[in-house]
Amino acid sequence: MAFATVWNYCVPLTIITAACFVRSARCQAVQAENVTVLEGGTAQISCRLQNYDGSIVVIQNPRRQTLFFNGTRALKDDRFQMVLFTPRLVRITLTNVSVSDEGGYFCQLYTDSTHHQVATLSVLVPPETPTVEVKQEAVEGGEVELTCVSPRSKPAATLRWIRNGREIPGVVSQQDNGKTFSVSSTIRIPVERKDNGAALSCEAFHPALGGQKRVRHYRLDVYFAPTVRIIPPSGILREGDSLILTCSITGNPLPRSIQWSKINDTLPERAEISGPTFQISRLSQTHNGTYLCQAQNNYGRAADHYTLLVYDNVSLITTVPSTPKTTQPITSHPVTPTLLTPNFTQDVEDPGAVVETHSAVPYAVIGGVLALLVFTVICVLIVTIWCSVRQKGSYRTREPILAWY
Ligand SMILES: *[C@@H]1O[C@H](CO)[C@@H](O)[C@H](O)[C@H]1NC(C)=O
Ligand SMILES: *[C@@H]1O[C@H](CO)[C@@H](O)[C@H](O)[C@H]1NC(C)=O
Ligand SMILES: *[C@@H]1O[C@H](CO)[C@@H](O)[C@H](O)[C@H]1NC(C)=O
Ligand SMILES: *[C@@H]1O[C@H](CO)[C@@H](O)[C@H](O)[C@H]1NC(C)=O
Ligand SMILES: *[C@@H]1O[C@H](CO)[C@@H](O)[C@H](O)[C@H]1NC(C)=O
Ligand SMILES: *[C@@H]1O[C@H](CO)[C@@H](O)[C@H](O)[C@H]1NC(C)=O
Ligand SMILES: *[C@@H]1O[C@H](CO)[C@@H](O)[C@H](O)[C@H]1NC(C)=O
Repeated sequence: MAFATVWNYCVPLTIITAACFVRSARCQAVQAENVTVLEGGTAQISCRLQNYDGSIVVIQNPRRQTLFFNGTRALKDDRFQMVLFTPRLVRITLTNVSVSDEGGYFCQLYTDSTHHQVATLSVLVPPETPTVEVKQEAVEGGEVELTCVSPRSKPAATLRWIRNGREIPGVVSQQDNGKTFSVSSTIRIPVERKDNGAALSCEAFHPALGGQKRVRHYRLDVYFAPTVRIIPPSGILREGDSLILTCSITGNPLPRSIQWSKINDTLPERAEISGPTFQISRLSQTHNGTYLCQAQNNYGRAADHYTLLVYDNVSLITTVPSTPKTTQPITSHPVTPTLLTPNFTQDVEDPGAVVETHSAVPYAVIGGVLALLVFTVICVLIVTIWCSVRQKGSYRTREPILAWY
């Protein structure tokens, strides 16, 4: 309403037709103002009078039906009210304006000759917040087609797609529905996994919004096959220890169920499974084997495996493990074979490694001394052989030189 009033006073352009007749003593005139109003608002239609002499004032709608005959209601439409009738100004209001009310309203003055003025009523229909339509679901590696729709506005709204503050140019189509317009803007964008959840927005601009905009936010929903990764326990496991494996899963939609299994075997009776967590308390060597975590959604399936090796705690104390490298529990990732090589340097608290360093010291010293001896002998031999070869060589090199002369 407030907006309508602003329009009413800021925009009106006035047409003055002076109906002055030189012969006539009086100089009567009527003057009408164009009006622009928002749909649903209230329009004020004013007819200004000059030198009013009590003549009949008639106001007619665009279909030339008489609304008021000198202050008396003629047409049964309660939305029209006569609010003012003075010798200077006749004003009527029209509430709940609709686009069908648009047109020229006649202010007529019956005098010796009939003069009239037309007040043109224009109705603006601001757009609602636009909607976003998705033609087909966005699957990783594909394209998504998004259409922003503003079904009704007058004049036609301007639509803009925005991502990260930048405009994405769309294909705009506009349809004329009689008095109002429906506008749409369609964009096609390639989608990857990383685009899942990316924010886009569609903005609608319109003169009736006074510099404001109506914004629809949209988050991309990109479907992709799951990825699965087992988070292994750190350090080595011995009999009596407990094993906890956690399966970390991604995917859109997120796989609902996770399957745990053991390759070429059934799962141990003592295994406790609760969603992504797999647990065996009090390990024994019969639990040795490869465990699988699998998940799937409509777009694919994925698995990761973990090879469990349970150490005998007796043998750890009495014997020196050959090389911990071959017995370290490993996880492998089918997608990236490089990860098959485990990291031993980080596993500082590996008790197996501690045992190895203590027992390996004397062997290392003896081995070092032996290696040094062997190295010295080889060096002496090489020097000797090299000297003799050089002597012979020096004789040989002279032979071809002599042959020149
Ligand atoms: C009022 O509106 C009509 C129709 O749009 C136009 O022809 C006319 O020039 C306008 N009058 C003024 C004073 O702008
Ligand atoms: C028309 O209405 C005005 C205002 O009420 C009045 O002054 C005038 O006399 C009326 N004219 C006629 C012809 O009834
Ligand atoms: C306004 O007009 C519309 C139709 O043009 C109608 O549906 C609506 O109920 C009206 N509102 C009021 C408050 O009269
Ligand atoms: C290994 O040690 C754990 C306690 O550290 C013990 O419960 C288990 O019985 C031992 N296993 C063997 C085979 O000695
Ligand atoms: C499972 O058994 C098959 C054949 O019996 C064998 O080829 C394969 O290596 C076994 N896998 C594991 C992980 O033991
Ligand atoms: C389990 O793995 C450990 C470590 O490699 C090995 O010493 C042991 O013999 C295995 N036990 C069985 C029953 O396979
Ligand atoms: C392995 O350790 C090195 C440093 O010792 C580190 O840079 C690397 O990221 C580690 N790799 C994994 C898979 O933990």
